Formats: sequence, structure tokens, C-alpha cells
Amino acid sequence: MPPRSRPSSRPTSRPTSRRGSIDPDLLVPMDKTAPTTGGYGDHFNVVFVGAGNIMFGGNLLFKTKSKLGPRLKVVALIDPAVDRAAVVLQKKRDSFVVSAYAKTRIFKTLKDFVDAASPEDAPQAVIVGCPPNFRGTTKPGRDLELQILTHFPGVCIFVEKPVATGDKADVQDAFAVAKAIETSDTICSVGYMLRYLRAVQEMKRIIQDNQLTVMATIARYGCAYESIFKPDWWDKSKSFGPIIEQGTHFCDLSRYFGGEVDISTVVAHSLEWNENAGHLSKIPIDETKILPQNRIPRVTSATWKYENGAVGSLVHVVALQGKNYSCELEVYADGYMFKLVNPYVQPTLYVRAPGDDYEQVHRFENDDPFFSEISNLIDVIEDGPESAEILSTFEDACKTYEFTWAIREASEKSRKKTTK
Ligand SMILES: NC(=O)c1ccc[n+]([C@@H]2O[C@H](COP(=O)([O-])OP(=O)(O)OC[C@H]3O[C@@H](n4cnc5c(N)ncnc54)[C@H](O)[C@@H]3O)[C@@H](O)[C@H]2O)c1
Repeated sequence: MPPRSRPSSRPTSRPTSRRGSIDPDLLVPMDKTAPTTGGYGDHFNVVFVGAGNIMFGGNLLFKTKSKLGPRLKVVALIDPAVDRAAVVLQKKRDSFVVSAYAKTRIFKTLKDFVDAASPEDAPQAVIVGCPPNFRGTTKPGRDLELQILTHFPGVCIFVEKPVATGDKADVQDAFAVAKAIETSDTICSVGYMLRYLRAVQEMKRIIQDNQLTVMATIARYGCAYESIFKPDWWDKSKSFGPIIEQGTHFCDLSRYFGGEVDISTVVAHSLEWNENAGHLSKIPIDETKILPQNRIPRVTSATWKYENGAVGSLVHVVALQGKNYSCELEVYADGYMFKLVNPYVQPTLYVRAPGDDYEQVHRFENDDPFFSEISNLIDVIEDGPESAEILSTFEDACKTYEFTWAIREASEKSRKKTTK
């Protein structure tokens, strides 16, 4: 089913990221933007896949609604847990944004929707927020993107990070999906939303304006484990561990600044749950229900070389309690140090530049990268590749996925050498 055609002429060329960055002044906070009026006229059909936390917990759906206003028409919600989906949908229908959900139908699978859809249901975008083990491969049942390309050629896709999860051997399969997306000229954005932070774009701007070459990236990601209630997160056989599931955001940001990683150089160590220093007192789930071999490491520390010779490092720590994470990324270039602090809660950027031994502090009030990533995607869909930037393509996100698997694998290999 082709997407409903756009009233005015829509540019047909695939949006390649022209600069790979956005002028930070163009990242306008959500509360200062009016819903768009362009492109597809008075209704913009969207299919949402997954009715969980990322979709209904305030991010994807709410940001899409904020961008499109009354034009948003959610034609289908796909989730095998149909009862749960019905509950969250009803809550939306009970709210003031009822027009978006008036005709929403719930389906267990995308195929069920395809079989039931009429031409008026044809979506302009499919927004995917289901767990990554159902997508990002060419294997039946885990090939959601390929199904979308088959049934809705020309539709635009947003897909949450990571692009997939599964055995290491499947990583190359994700690149095959990327190839299919590319060759079909499909507009596709992946949810590495930290790239859209104004602080991150300010770093990019300074690096580009001064033609700097990044020499080192140092990433530190401290999660507040006491607030991670999802049992799957603690189980490597389900979420594939804290680097692939969570540290991936900082692996991706490291790549965004450092460039391509030489995967063969990745080395890593971990502190495991059964080592003396690995005991945690406030795990909010019953970890004894998880097989010992599937329990996650408490600390993962990795270093690597970028292809241009620069060096990167990451320390991911499962140690903090409470709610707020503690995350920092440092980027060094000749004469410069950039330090991005607290990107999830209150993004702050410290910049040391030539001619000054002290850092300048930049604060970014009310910045909402989730809104900016959706906003940019919809602008590209409606107004063409010159109107906005997609900062994370599927192929690029596959490289981050490959990189996170390399870190996990390196830490497991070194563990075998150092622990029984
Ligand atoms: N960018 C971020 O900061 C961020 C934050 C949270 C989650 N995420 C990502 O969003 C995705 C979903 O996470 P979540 O926290 O919403 O999970 P969740 O467990 O809260 O919800 C997942 C939903 O998907 C449904 N589902 C399962 N299999 C499905 C299938 N085959 N088709 C359609 N729906 C299916 C489940 O029934 C559930 O309702 C993951 O990839 C996760 O990494 C990203």
C-alpha cells in the first residue's frame, strides 16, 4: 500500500545528512513551536508499533502530537499485548487530544493491519518503539523494517535504538536491512536522540567552525540502577547487557565526534556480579531468577582507536541509586576541551578554548532532544531533505550496534582470562 500522496510536490531524493549537524539556534524548544501546518494537509497518518514506555510514557507519541497538532491521525497501534495497548489508548482517548485517536485500531501484528487497512489508512510514517529483538534483521519474525518496506513502499520510518538485538553473528544482518532501506530511498531516522541536544550541536558547531580534528573522546555513563525495574534489562539473554541496551547512547555520541571506530582495536574489562566489588544492595528486581550466566556486569570499561588514530574510552557503571543518571562526555582537540555534563537532566557544556585557561559554561534551558529528533524527521518528510537534518541513519546506527557488540565481546573475552 503506497503512502497517501502529498498534495504539493514532495522532493523525491533521499535525505542524506548534508552536514550531519544542525545549527543549535534552529533547535527550538517544544513549547516555543506551533504545530506544523504543511506538507500533507489536514491529516498526517501514523502507525505506532509498540505501546510501551517509550511510546506512551511521554516521549514518542507526545512529541509527535506536539509537532503535528490536530493533523496527527494514529491509524493503527501494533502490539501483541492488545489488552495493555487498549488501556493506554483509552487513556489517550479520555484526554483532550481525542481527535488523534478517534479512529485508531489495535492490531497484534503489522500483517494484521495490512490485511485490514483501507486506502485512507495509508500511513505517512511508521514509528517503531517495540523491543529491538523483533526488528533489525532479515529473519522472519524479526524483520519489521523489511515488512514495512514491502507493505508500505515510500513510507517514512522512525525506529528506536538499538537497531536490533540478537546474537553477535546477526550484526551483519542489520547492515543488510540498512542496505534495503537505502536502496529503496526510504526516509529513516533512528532514536539516538542525544545527537539532537543543543549542547551537542554547539560542540559540533565549534569543531566545524574551527576545523578541529578530534584527538580523544572520554565517556562516562553512570546509571541509577535502583530505578531500573524492568527484569529484562538485568538479563543479558533478553536485553543483551547494559552496553548494547543503554551505553549505546554514549557509544553513539563518541562515534558522532570521533568518527569511525577501528573495531579490531576494541579492548574492554568488566566487573561482574559475582566478583567481590560487584555486589549491589538495592537491585529492584529479584536477580536470583536470572540465570547466573545471564546476569549483567556492574562496570564495563573499554578503550579503542578511531580510524584516524584518535583514541576513545567509555566507562559504564551500574552503581548509582536514586533516579538521576550521572553522565559526561569529554572531547579533546588541539587547544580545545568540550565537556558535556548531565545530558539527560540538565545539559551543560563546558568549553575550554585557546587563549583561556578557564572553561566557559553554556547552559541550555528547556532543551528537548526527543522533540527535536521527531520534529526534524517530520520536517524532512513534509518539506524535503533541505528543510531539516536526520542525524542518525539506519546504517550509521548499525555501526553503533556493531561497536557495542564489540565492547561486550571484548569484555567477556578478557573476563575469561582474569576470572574463573
Ligand atoms: N531513546 C531512549 O532514551 C529510549 C528510552 C526508553 C526506551 N527506548 C527504546 O524503545 C524501545 C522500547 O522500549 P520500551 O521501554 O518502550 O519497552 P516496553 O517494554 O515498555 O514496551 C515495549 C512494547 O512493545 C510491545 N511489543 C513486544 N513485541 C512487539 C512486537 N513484535 N511488535 C509490536 N510491539 C511489540 C510490548 O508488548 C510492549 O507494549 C527499545 O528499543 C528501547 O531501547 C529508548
